[in-house]
Amino acid sequence: MKPAGAPRRALSFDENPALSLPLRYFLTAPLFAALAAGLLMWRGEPALLTRWSPLTLALTHLMVLGCLSMTMIGALLQMLPVVGGIAVPHVGRVGAAVHLALSAGALLLACAFWSEQPALFALALAPLLGALLLFVGACTVGMWREHAPGSGAVVGGIRLALTALVLTATLGGLLAGAFAWPSGTDLPLQRMTDLHAMWGLLGWVGLLVIAVAFQVVPMFMLTEPYPAFLTGGYTTVLFLLLAAASLSSGLPGAGLRFHQVCLALLAAGYALFAGVTLYLLARRKRPRADPTTLYWRVAMASLMAALALWLWPRGEVSNATPLALGVLLIAGFALSAINGMLYKIVPFLAWYHLQDAMAGGRRPPAANLIIPERRANWQLAAHVAALLLLLAACYQPALTRPAAALMCLACLALWLNLCTAARLYWQLRAPPATITSQPS
Ligand code: HEM
Repeated sequence: MKPAGAPRRALSFDENPALSLPLRYFLTAPLFAALAAGLLMWRGEPALLTRWSPLTLALTHLMVLGCLSMTMIGALLQMLPVVGGIAVPHVGRVGAAVHLALSAGALLLACAFWSEQPALFALALAPLLGALLLFVGACTVGMWREHAPGSGAVVGGIRLALTALVLTATLGGLLAGAFAWPSGTDLPLQRMTDLHAMWGLLGWVGLLVIAVAFQVVPMFMLTEPYPAFLTGGYTTVLFLLLAAASLSSGLPGAGLRFHQVCLALLAAGYALFAGVTLYLLARRKRPRADPTTLYWRVAMASLMAALALWLWPRGEVSNATPLALGVLLIAGFALSAINGMLYKIVPFLAWYHLQDAMAGGRRPPAANLIIPERRANWQLAAHVAALLLLLAACYQPALTRPAAALMCLACLALWLNLCTAARLYWQLRAPPATITSQPS
């Protein structure tokens, strides 16, 4: 394969936000995932019997809003100025408000599903839509203004992912509105749910992971750059296929065949990204794989497995397949990619901010020593075991509780590992007289 496309570009740290801004998102996200896994452990089998169960929908949104969107929004507020040269206006205040509203909204929406109370759906909508609107609005203003030239493929992909987030939130808002005000609704709810899930998982999450991968896989995992055929108009093609699949959904006859072709092309497009990423990771300059590289391999393998399951011809309708699809996309693909990135981004940011904050000519420890690799590897092993058990539990519900317990443990271990980096930063940045312990 000829590596050519995206040249590695210099990063600009002139507009770098304070460390506390992304850190509050990164430390909140694993707690939401642990909460979802803890609730699954508590309720057991009934929470993993069908995708339509209110318990399943509550856990899904603790994951997709409280964990995945939480990390992705924190990462974007950090990345846009550094990678794209884009200054998000009032980033400190916007970041704090979005974090608070997203946390409250995700908890309220989960409570609404759990308790099936229409009033709670209405209550959840205000902070959720407010948070997402404020975040997308601030990013749009930042991109609108004149800014330093950023990396085209990365910023282009981020724009499309943000558009997908707006579509996801609009469809989600209409669905939640139908629960909040049940009478007078004449919407095709099942079709809208499928489209909402598709735009959320393949659009908002999928396009953002792809756009960010163009920058971070070569930079953090020391691979060759992605080839030019991916970093060109590839994310735009995926976005257009998502749009075509949405517009043709529910059509009969030739419309149905067109819809199926769009889905097949979408699957091929995402599989191409996964295949190229695995290829680049296999040929990276360092043969020994660190936890981030292993996490990304798990993420790409899960994406491929999910795509195969999605298109696999099925004779009879099964409850297990959509659940397994959700597990592969949410816990396998998105959570693994995010988990792996956090092991690079958080130590790197702590190290970067310490360079300025440490007094008396002291030097911070190397970024790769800030979270001990042995602990990250243990956490990765727990995550992979939990993922496999969770998949098995979709077909054998008796495994639900052990799977959830292990996933809860893995998420808490991730949180503790990230806290190690945060604690080190707060200890070392204090004046020397107040430091009580030094890292070895
Ligand atoms: C404003 C934020 C959101 C609201 C109000 C919302 C609301 C909803 C509602 C009401 C449903 C259930 C529909 C039904 O049972 O008929 C649903 C399903 C779903 N949502 Fe959301 N959602 C939001 C954001 C997201 C995001 C950001 C994602 C993904 C990243 C997402 C992923 C899903 C998935 C995968 C399902 C289907 C679950 C299943 O098939 O079991 N949602 N959402």
